[in-house]
Amino acid sequence: MFELKNKRLSVLSEMVRPCEVAADIGTDHAHLPIELVLSGKCERVIACDVKEGPLAVAKKNISQYALGHCIELRLGFGLEVLEPGECSLITVAGMGGLMICDILERSENVARTASQLILQPNTCEYDLRKYLYENGYVIEDEKGVRDGDHCYLAVSCHKEENPEKLDEYKKKIKENFPGNNIDNYFFAGNVMAERKDDEDVEFLQNLCKKAERVLDGISLSGEVLTEENSEKKKKYTALCEFLRRISG
Ligand SMILES: C[S@@+](CC[C@H](N)C(=O)[O-])C[C@H]1O[C@@H](n2cnc3c(N)ncnc32)[C@H](O)[C@@H]1O
Repeated sequence: MFELKNKRLSVLSEMVRPCEVAADIGTDHAHLPIELVLSGKCERVIACDVKEGPLAVAKKNISQYALGHCIELRLGFGLEVLEPGECSLITVAGMGGLMICDILERSENVARTASQLILQPNTCEYDLRKYLYENGYVIEDEKGVRDGDHCYLAVSCHKEENPEKLDEYKKKIKENFPGNNIDNYFFAGNVMAERKDDEDVEFLQNLCKKAERVLDGISLSGEVLTEENSEKKKKYTALCEFLRRISG
């Protein structure tokens, strides 16, 4: 009997809209594909990884639950192992935010054909939101997940092909985060700030503590502020004020 014990992966699975074919990029142990098939959310999953070692572990786990007929393994970088339109859901979880941006950038022709992309960066959440905003993706949902000591971000999005809908989406964000405040959007997003359930507030408060630590680091250095640090201080001060206001 398979039981998904990892809270982070459970939240990703909850965010999935049922579909026929999904792909999990950076699958490692293939726990997410196994959960998606056994829960009935996806009929078939293509489990992909850039390294052979993780795929060997995935193969063992998949055969333990006799799921070889509905979980296929592929070796290669990101979405390069997929054909455009091959799957309607793509998950990319448990890697750095910059790597996720690189994966999307290198295979935009595949990413644009998925109706749902679930992305879970371990780092560089700011860069991922900025990339999505600047490259025509619409964020539909975000969740903050505490797992052990770490608070993870999970984003559900799609590439918006309709220019009017995309303009409308970006207009709303620009109205809520005018001028330089768009940085606060890249840091914190708007979904959790608007919904504010208990986990959202915990995520935003955790983010605030991180931003305060950055500011402490700048103050403690005791040096005359360089132009770069002065800019950083301004950015993080504005972020802390914003986060205290929305999560207080
Ligand atoms: C920390 S594991 C995460 C496993 C699982 N997705 C999760 O969230 O628990 C990261 C996996 O991503 C794979 N990976 C890293 N970069 C990749 C890339 N560009 N394309 C495909 N897989 C990649 C690694 O080999 C590793 O197995």
